[in-house]
Amino acid sequence: MSDKKRVAVLISGRGSNMTALIDAAKTPNYPAEIVGVFSNRAAAQGLETARSQGIEAASLAQSSFESRLDFENALTGILEGWAVDYVCLAGFMRILTPEFTTHWLGKAINIHPSLLPAYKGLDTHARAISDGVLEAGCTVHFVTPGLDEGPAILQARVAVQPGDTAETLAARVLVEEHRLYPEALRLLASGAVTYQD
Ligand code: GAR
Repeated sequence: MSDKKRVAVLISGRGSNMTALIDAAKTPNYPAEIVGVFSNRAAAQGLETARSQGIEAASLAQSSFESRLDFENALTGILEGWAVDYVCLAGFMRILTPEFTTHWLGKAINIHPSLLPAYKGLDTHARAISDGVLEAGCTVHFVTPGLDEGPAILQARVAVQPGDTAETLAARVLVEEHRLYPEALRLLASGAVTYQD
């Protein structure tokens, strides 16, 4: 039996970070395997990508549930069905309840397109450019009840260039995201990093 850690990726759309994780997991000696992909949107492009690679893919719409908690309990049921050790949020655009984040504390990580604690939430690149900052970047961090607040595992810095738009900056940061996320998952799955309060 494989001693690789079992990982699920949660997405809402394109899934390019998901693809970076899937590709990394195929490299020799990588300590994790991607066993399932979940989306809150059935039309998410990343679900098709995952299925085409033989990875289990599932979706549930929150609108089909009476409450956010019911939706998340169903999601936890899917993740536990896949027997996952870790959960990677990769462009998963849903706010999670404290019940869910506490259940997965130390086991769930997220990638955010800013140098946290700067620019939590949405429209990170547009806000960074309008503030005139010289550096942007991305952060992989543990998921905790506070939005984009958990302890950072790794960050990558990207210089903001004169004339950058939110789109050009996002594209350069995304290149770093695709390098950073597999590296952070490697640290977690190998036990080199653990959650500390
Ligand atoms: C990524 O840039 C990720 O950092 C961001 O969404 C994008 C998803 O792209 N996540 C957030 O903004 C979370 N607050 P992808 O679907 O191609 O990986």
